[in-house]
Amino acid sequence: MHFSSLLLAAISVLPVFGQLSGKVGPLTTHAAKSAKKTCNVLSYGAKADKSTDLGPALLSAFTACKSGGTVVVPAGDFAIKTWVTFEGGKAWALQLDGTIYRTTGTGGGNMLFVRNANDFEMFSSTGKGAIQGNGYDDHKSGKRDGARLLRVEQTTNFSVHDIILVDAPMFHVVISTSTNGEVYNMAIRGGDEGGLDGIDVWGTNIWVHDVMVTNKDECVTVKSPSKNILVENIYCNSSGGCAIGSLGADTAISSVVYKNIYTWKSNQMMMIKSNGGSGYVEDVVFENFIGHGNAYSLDVDQYWSSMTAVAGNGVQLSNITFNNWKGTLANGAQRGPVKVACADKAPCTDITITDLAMWTETGSKQTYSCRSGYGSGFCLKKGTGASYVAVTSTQTAAPTGYSAVSMKDDLKTAFGTASSIPIPTMPASFYPNTPPVSKLAGQ
Ligand SMILES: *[C@@H]1O[C@H](CO)[C@@H](O)[C@H](O)[C@H]1NC(C)=O
Ligand SMILES: *[C@@H]1O[C@H](CO)[C@@H](O)[C@H](O)[C@H]1NC(C)=O
Ligand SMILES: *[C@@H]1O[C@H](CO)[C@@H](O)[C@H](O)[C@H]1NC(C)=O
Repeated sequence: MHFSSLLLAAISVLPVFGQLSGKVGPLTTHAAKSAKKTCNVLSYGAKADKSTDLGPALLSAFTACKSGGTVVVPAGDFAIKTWVTFEGGKAWALQLDGTIYRTTGTGGGNMLFVRNANDFEMFSSTGKGAIQGNGYDDHKSGKRDGARLLRVEQTTNFSVHDIILVDAPMFHVVISTSTNGEVYNMAIRGGDEGGLDGIDVWGTNIWVHDVMVTNKDECVTVKSPSKNILVENIYCNSSGGCAIGSLGADTAISSVVYKNIYTWKSNQMMMIKSNGGSGYVEDVVFENFIGHGNAYSLDVDQYWSSMTAVAGNGVQLSNITFNNWKGTLANGAQRGPVKVACADKAPCTDITITDLAMWTETGSKQTYSCRSGYGSGFCLKKGTGASYVAVTSTQTAAPTGYSAVSMKDDLKTAFGTASSIPIPTMPASFYPNTPPVSKLAGQ
């Protein structure tokens, strides 16, 4: 490593105040928890035979370790048939080094559900711990109401890291109404259709970083209510793309930063999506975005047609900055690099688009479109004011400085939804020329 990258690495591990409001992660190390008590599922009836139901053993191990200790699922192949709710643990960890396969379980809800925990860590010590949801078994017959793989709810001071999640029947990770959390070093690979979200997060003071998502819906998406969320080093490797939304009544989202987001062959690089509704999204920054092969790039759509309109004048968007967006897009004449469609009854204010240079991969023209949006950059109107109908400008020459590197491992062909999806290994990096903030486990 030469000096400048050392310096960059040093900068990136400094506490990131501004968007985060304080410390994130568990209060005690998993080593300290393990030293206090270790509850290995093999001592509670589990068998690494890919057939015995892990559910009951996992729950018993948790009950024994929930007041301080580490529940261990060792290396090996385990089957899960019944889902587990880990309720109210304190100073506990879940060490997943084996692979958990959904075999016969078809229930909805959450396969692993951590609720009302404080000082919690879920991790793999080897970086090989995985959950194989075998969602294709449902999806091939059109069923899509099965389990989410992992949900963390009403939890404080926690982290989830170095885990691989594959082919969820429904979503892969949901972090809801939680505080002081960190989610990092994750590889998520789902089927190629909607409703199979990568990471959905809402809460306060949460850092999501170094995550790869392959699917056809949310990559890493922030929902309401949320405050002080930092999303960093994200590789949407043939996905739906990242978003904020969808947003309905009484939306309350502020102080969110997305930075270093690489998006390949997705629906969009970033979307703010709503249709009607109320409340606000404010003080948000989207910086250092690279895209290739995506349908939409910068897409603010407050008339999102995939959502039934909600009562209300629209969510008020204000003080939102897009800075340093580079790369290419699938077809700029069909869908240009910038689409800002704000609610006519709640025009956006202080939208800033700076240093955005992107160019179409097909043809030689692209459009920029703005409706009821105020601020600066491209077709946005200056100042503040009333609603206006969409204005579109067309560009017929590539802007200078648009070109951006590609990741060498971009997924060329999607996995579809009808056959088993292989469990990946953790990628070495989640954004071009940028090492993960924290070292990958087992390396
Ligand atoms: C979470 O940790 C912070 C210190 O970082 C502490 O002040 C807070 O009380 C903890 N939360 C709970 C629920 O104990
Ligand atoms: C706009 O948002 C940024 C990022 O959160 C923040 O630093 C800045 O203070 C906000 N500006 C105003 C005028 O609130
Ligand atoms: C992107 O996805 C493809 C297919 O899952 C995989 O082969 C490739 O390794 C992924 N890229 C990275 C950096 O992991």
